[in-house]
Amino acid sequence: MPKPTIVTLPGDGIGPIVLEETLRVLEAAGFKANYVEGDIGWEFWKREGDPLPQRTLDLIAEHKIGLFGAITSKPKDESLEELAPELKSAGLVYSSPIVGLRQHFGLDICLRPCHSYLGNPLNFVRRGPDGNLEEPSVDVAIFRQNTEGLYGGVEWSNPPEHVHDAFMTHPKFRQNFGKTPIDELSISTRIFTKKATERILRAAFEHARRYEYKSVTVCEKPNVIRETSGMMYKMAQEIQKADFPDIELWNTNIDAQMMWLTKNPENYGVIVAGNMFGDIVSDGFAGLIGGLGFAASAQYNPDTGIGVFEPTHGSAPRYASYETSIVNPIAMIEAACMMLDFIDEQTIALNIRKAVAEVIDEGQIRTYDMARLPGTSDVFHKGAASTKQMADAIIAKLT
Ligand code: NAI
Ligand code: MG
Repeated sequence: MPKPTIVTLPGDGIGPIVLEETLRVLEAAGFKANYVEGDIGWEFWKREGDPLPQRTLDLIAEHKIGLFGAITSKPKDESLEELAPELKSAGLVYSSPIVGLRQHFGLDICLRPCHSYLGNPLNFVRRGPDGNLEEPSVDVAIFRQNTEGLYGGVEWSNPPEHVHDAFMTHPKFRQNFGKTPIDELSISTRIFTKKATERILRAAFEHARRYEYKSVTVCEKPNVIRETSGMMYKMAQEIQKADFPDIELWNTNIDAQMMWLTKNPENYGVIVAGNMFGDIVSDGFAGLIGGLGFAASAQYNPDTGIGVFEPTHGSAPRYASYETSIVNPIAMIEAACMMLDFIDEQTIALNIRKAVAEVIDEGQIRTYDMARLPGTSDVFHKGAASTKQMADAIIAKLT
């Protein structure tokens, strides 16, 4: 097989730190690749007025696979203040390079796996009927529609007259909002298309079949949000009946699902949802398996084969300045494993995941979050491992 070329996208803050350790793990596991670095993030906003320069898009278009650390975003006023002086009056507006990547490449499938590692002190525990503590084993794969819905960006404050007129044709709008002055209205839409809905549903069902999950749960709110959630559930029923009769289709409401998280998280397999509810439910599940140090995500377009793989945490700027880094590299390492799955290097991914599992289960090497310590720079005196020590421990377990 020819060596793949991976576009590394270090970004800001702790992004480059966890990426560097992950590249060491990949190398030690015998993954052979060429790497080219793509510019992304706050530094490029400040210097060039563009956090996602065209040359980076070109690199990803050419090589198809991105391994992304994290970026920093700041509020509107601050982002203008930090621009290079010569750019300040250019009328530039900051927009998130992550959303930019999704939209530019149509990365409409977002997969966020959440599985608990045995021995992780951050695993969720609950009290059972006999009073004993139970530690349910969580293993869910959340499929989040990544480009539409509430994050589609179709929204207005003080909407233009013709938009308002169009809304006034809806009886519910007339009844509930018809008397509200236009300049007191903010409207964010939730648009679902059949095409994208079918793609995310099929991705979920195919994943369930491939990895032998028994069920796919549509997590929406079809009893209230009848059109969009309703369409997703109806299409799921049709797809399941026609093509996936071997997989059970379940239906939960997002609010009830968040409550069930702490009651029976072990019962769920693949979960599929629109953009906002997918974001919510994936953070909810991530909390059960250790949180930001463990949560990773894949965003891809099955038609083009373009995929970007990243930890879900941000750039944690405070931690980036420590002389010895304390943050947990496991989320970034898991993102790299998802990248390996995507390019059919499952054997290497399995080896890395097994090594991670062994280190966690042994419990000798734990980053500050796993040791439940405040994230100060002196955590090493309290028994926590550094980012590098965690990566070294994982490397030592590779076979
Ligand atoms: P964050 O995820 O960067 O950090 C929140 C807290 O989580 C940290 O203070 C730290 O306590 C903990 N944490 C994060 N990563 C960790 C790791 N690998 N190991 C151990 N602990 C970890 O989120 P925050 O502070 O809300 O945002 C910081 C910056 O990151 C902002 O500029 C924000 O816009 C950006 N951000 C970027 C994301 C991305 O690149 N995908 C996602 C979320 C935020
Ligand atoms: Mg989120």
